[in-house]
Amino acid sequence: MEKISQVLHDNYIGKNVSIRGWVYRIRASKKLAFIIVRDSSGIIQAVASSEKLNEDLFRELSSLKVESSLSLEGVVRKDDRSVAGYEIDITAATVFQNNDKFPISRDLGEEFLLDNRHLWLRSREMTAVTKIRSTIFKAYSDFYYSRGFYQVQPPLMVSTATEGGSTLFKVPFFGDEVNLTQSSQFYLETFIFSLENVFTIAPSFRAEKSRTWRHLTEYWHAEAECAWIGNDEMMDIEEDMIRYIVNQVLENNIPELKELGRDIDALRKTTKPFPRIRYEKLIEMSRDFGLDLKYGDDLGADEERKIMVNFETPIFVTHFPRELKTFYHMPDPENPDVILCHDLLAPEGYGEIVGGGERIWKLETLEQRMKEYNLNPEEYYWYLDLRRYGSVPHSGFGMGLDRVALWIMHLDTITNAIPYPRTVRRTKP
Ligand code: 4AD
Repeated sequence: MEKISQVLHDNYIGKNVSIRGWVYRIRASKKLAFIIVRDSSGIIQAVASSEKLNEDLFRELSSLKVESSLSLEGVVRKDDRSVAGYEIDITAATVFQNNDKFPISRDLGEEFLLDNRHLWLRSREMTAVTKIRSTIFKAYSDFYYSRGFYQVQPPLMVSTATEGGSTLFKVPFFGDEVNLTQSSQFYLETFIFSLENVFTIAPSFRAEKSRTWRHLTEYWHAEAECAWIGNDEMMDIEEDMIRYIVNQVLENNIPELKELGRDIDALRKTTKPFPRIRYEKLIEMSRDFGLDLKYGDDLGADEERKIMVNFETPIFVTHFPRELKTFYHMPDPENPDVILCHDLLAPEGYGEIVGGGERIWKLETLEQRMKEYNLNPEEYYWYLDLRRYGSVPHSGFGMGLDRVALWIMHLDTITNAIPYPRTVRRTKP
């Protein structure tokens, strides 16, 4: 049994091959049926002829509908008019299922396609999206393994909040309540005392009511935490990691990027050095981009879009005012009003894909910050213990993999960058 992409080569011309898959398109006349077959690797046209096949088989093949499943044998022929440049003349076939009319045809609305994502997954677009995601997820892990990091598995049901209480999902738990994790950061911090450098890929949950093109309620969070390093070294590692992921996609997924209409040259340019800009400076620069921001304003999706259409590479924004971020960020010793943190904003208007920085590692400073945020130290006893026993400087980050996929594929909305999006209005299929 061959894969379709395998037989699309001159050295298969004249050879007898067997393939299996699904009907992508079909056009039949009295004497001939042109069946475009799809498998996980590609598409090819197969031709059934009434002269070469027995009557029953020819009739069965001619009556197939889109998405019917079959296997077939035949001889490969070059044909420049055909969809992939090669064709198969069918000599034998087995039909597994000749189904009813497939519910999805061209030009159906976005909501209909979301309701039928379980079927729409088979489309060329979603196949490209899921293949590129597969590369991104693998590249993220490979990068950290190659740097000697350990992969760890934090819990998803937790009792603490990392990013503020307002976006917590609470679920019943044997007469009590538990939260779905917003970030695995605090648990990754617990691992650095034995493993020093760790990473994970896990879902995070945010009860965000905002229905924007970049928010999900359940998203795939790639996080890492490193002992002994500060904000600058953390950004160095992240820059290498993003470049590695983009290069892996460029190496493995050119056909899929083309399928999605991605400007590949623009993607290549994103691997140049990433500027590092202090928040204060960015606010100044934002006037040139038509924004009216003042020091202390937060950057939302709209502001970031207006800023990032002006950049070809991602940029790091550093030294945010402490009021704009949560309690665990390390104040800058040179100016404690700002913190040693960074957001990484993706170019071409996409905006934030990473948030990270140096963590407060002195017990007194952390206790003081928690007081300012009205957090109960008893609930965070284990997080505070990390600052009681062998505390060390450390940094980390969290990256939304669905946002990275959205940007790399240059799609309009995050719901098309993930197979089964969960948003404020969608939990099906
Ligand atoms: O900036 P955030 O909230 O940072 C944290 O959660 C840190 N505790 C991470 C860490 O340092 N380990 O989230 C990190 C990233 C964002 O930059 C964004 O890419 C993604 O997670 N993200 C979302 N992606 C999709 N939908 C949402 N609702 C998201 N919220 C955050």
